[in-house]
Amino acid sequence: MDSFHTSVLLKEIISGLNVQKNKNYIDATIGGGGHSFEILRLGGIVLGIDCDKDAIDYVGENWKLESKRCGIPEKNLILVKGNFRDLDKIAHLNNFDKISGIIFDLGVSSHQLGAAQRGFSFQKEGPLDMRMDQDLNLTAKDFIYALTKGELYELFTKLGEESNAREFSNLIVMARGVKPIETTRDLAMIFEKIPSRRVWGINRATKIFQALRIAVNDELNAIREALPKAVNMLEDEGRILVISFHSLEDRIVKRAFLEFEEKNMGKIITKKPITPTKEELGINRRSRSAKLRIFERNI
Ligand SMILES: C[S@@+](CC[C@H](N)C(=O)[O-])C[C@H]1O[C@@H](n2cnc3c(N)ncnc32)[C@H](O)[C@@H]1O
Repeated sequence: MDSFHTSVLLKEIISGLNVQKNKNYIDATIGGGGHSFEILRLGGIVLGIDCDKDAIDYVGENWKLESKRCGIPEKNLILVKGNFRDLDKIAHLNNFDKISGIIFDLGVSSHQLGAAQRGFSFQKEGPLDMRMDQDLNLTAKDFIYALTKGELYELFTKLGEESNAREFSNLIVMARGVKPIETTRDLAMIFEKIPSRRVWGINRATKIFQALRIAVNDELNAIREALPKAVNMLEDEGRILVISFHSLEDRIVKRAFLEFEEKNMGKIITKKPITPTKEELGINRRSRSAKLRIFERNI
């Protein structure tokens, strides 16, 4: 499972979820299946969703073996390729209208980042794609070409929180008029011209790639739409757990939970988000920006 994705905050997710035998749980971002398999081993029934076909295929294959190995009925895991923004519909179709808990582990999997042909990483040459869901119509390249200079500026400012957004958008508009920007490397190379490419050890292209990825996958709207659906599906004492990886997502989660509390729908369990232990940080660098927030429904 490690090669596909190493689960972040696994212990914290499992204890926060308080898994009970034969209760229904949704894993809205099943990825490599690490969180789900632990819930299944503890006797939970899981509806696993992912918009990436690779994740669904990978987990399906592994679960065949793992369920046999652990003596758990294979049917305890239902897999659906879909977007969690359609959570209510997907859950209804699978008789998961009422659930004891739901997890969202946002962002990309290590598999997506590592597979050059998926186009998420500027460290690997691949087509400028960045779609988590291979059925989406628009790729990052389409965004690079379709947006005006002003729109690129806005995108990099809002979704990349990039302070030099103007310089980046100018460079892209100049470059795309000279020769095609087809690959991740083509895009990253455009920023080579910016003198101080590395700020605090982070490559400048990082924020631009982040902004494009969020836009291509409409990530912020997806979580914004999914959380109110999730809270309405929870049984009494059922919980929503969200791991976010950057401030824009975390802000949305924090605000949604506050709103649920104001509406007397339940209580926020994590006054401050839970972050990885030193031990986890030492093993998994990708966990460094993870923040876990938990909300409990009370009916
Ligand atoms: C960080 S990984 C999840 C890893 C997983 N928890 C594990 O332990 O292996 C995030 C996954 O969420 C999926 N994803 C992101 N946004 C999604 C959305 N709106 N709907 C469905 N899946 C989504 C991605 O395709 C990716 O596979």
